[in-house]
Amino acid sequence: MKLRSLTFTNIKFLRKFSSEASPHPYTQSARDGNVQLGTKPRILITGSHGQLGYGVAQALRKSYGRENVIMSDIIKPSKRILESGPYIHADILDFKNLQQVVVTHRLDWLIHFSALLSAVGEKNLSLAMKVNVEGVHNILELSRQFGLRLFVPSTIGAFGPESPRNPTPNLTVQRPKTIYGVSKVHAELLGEYFHHRYGLDFRCLRFPGVISYDTNPGGGTTDYAVQIFHDALTTRHHVCYLRKDTRLPMMYITDTIKSICEFMALDSSVLPQRTYNVTAMSFTPEEIADSIRRHIPSLEVTYKPDDRQKIADSWPQVFDDSEARTEWGWEHEYDLDKLVDIMITSLRPKYAS
Ligand SMILES: NC(=O)c1ccc[n+]([C@@H]2O[C@H](COP(=O)([O-])OP(=O)(O)OC[C@H]3O[C@@H](n4cnc5c(N)ncnc54)[C@H](O)[C@@H]3O)[C@@H](O)[C@H]2O)c1
Repeated sequence: MKLRSLTFTNIKFLRKFSSEASPHPYTQSARDGNVQLGTKPRILITGSHGQLGYGVAQALRKSYGRENVIMSDIIKPSKRILESGPYIHADILDFKNLQQVVVTHRLDWLIHFSALLSAVGEKNLSLAMKVNVEGVHNILELSRQFGLRLFVPSTIGAFGPESPRNPTPNLTVQRPKTIYGVSKVHAELLGEYFHHRYGLDFRCLRFPGVISYDTNPGGGTTDYAVQIFHDALTTRHHVCYLRKDTRLPMMYITDTIKSICEFMALDSSVLPQRTYNVTAMSFTPEEIADSIRRHIPSLEVTYKPDDRQKIADSWPQVFDDSEARTEWGWEHEYDLDKLVDIMITSLRPKYAS
């Protein structure tokens, strides 16, 4: 069977077959390094104290066991993170220490979240170059040396004004204008090169803005779509740094976590490509405000565009993730109204007292 012609039904069958054949959904390809078939992978998550780390760690721990998923970062862990499972200090710029961590913890998979996001990266170019470029070099070399399955997230920010913006296909012109975007294209290309050259099991999903209620966003251009909920429930007034008609792709964190867990569990041989767009919805500040007004009719929004407007104007408006859907069965669950409902319901108790 030609891989490109795998249909959604084939993928569903392969997944079902994999999970029936072993007690957990992880299977391994012949190319993978050091995991015994039928054993659970041991996983390190870098930069896991950010917006995505905790949720992804918890979901992976459910599938593969609490002790098999190690969270890491360079900052002191919160009580919630510390109590949730193993957590270690790991600076992605310290290559020797990373080697020790892989050996000591007998790692099989690496989920690489450490990064400086778009708005923060523009304010601190030299640190962004270090963390987002040098850091990725370390992670790739480490994964090559130890035969790790490597996940590196990319972003809608990996596209630029010359890319088609509505919709933005999986494979198209990528000329981003931020150091964040440039470093993500660099990671995508190097990861794919290491895959072709060395057989590295590199996997990459390009995410839109991720929205969550229990973790804070880390300084991206889509952060307003989280802040607006906190403002709606407290002051009833949100000052938006984007114009009201700025359309950007977005996703609820539960869908982001699901995409990573499903994508990582697939056998390497069923993946025709290594880098995929994934998304769930696209909306403007005006549209999300209208949806929030179903719960909080008095919400007011004032628009004061700042530097982030320029970044948003160069990014995709609608993300075409049809290849992820047909080639490995990606499906989102949350649309705009469902996202707003869960955000309001989950945050309301926090501000009730
Ligand atoms: N959150 C989103 O909306 C979004 C969208 C697209 C892609 N992504 C990607 O997903 C990944 C995780 O995103 P996030 O929102 O959780 O990011 P975040 O900014 O919230 O967290 C990043 C973490 O990296 C850590 N870090 C910084 N320097 C480090 C170093 N030298 N060594 C180790 N860790 C270091 C930080 O302490 C921080 O906890 C990033 O690669 C990001 O580009 C996120």
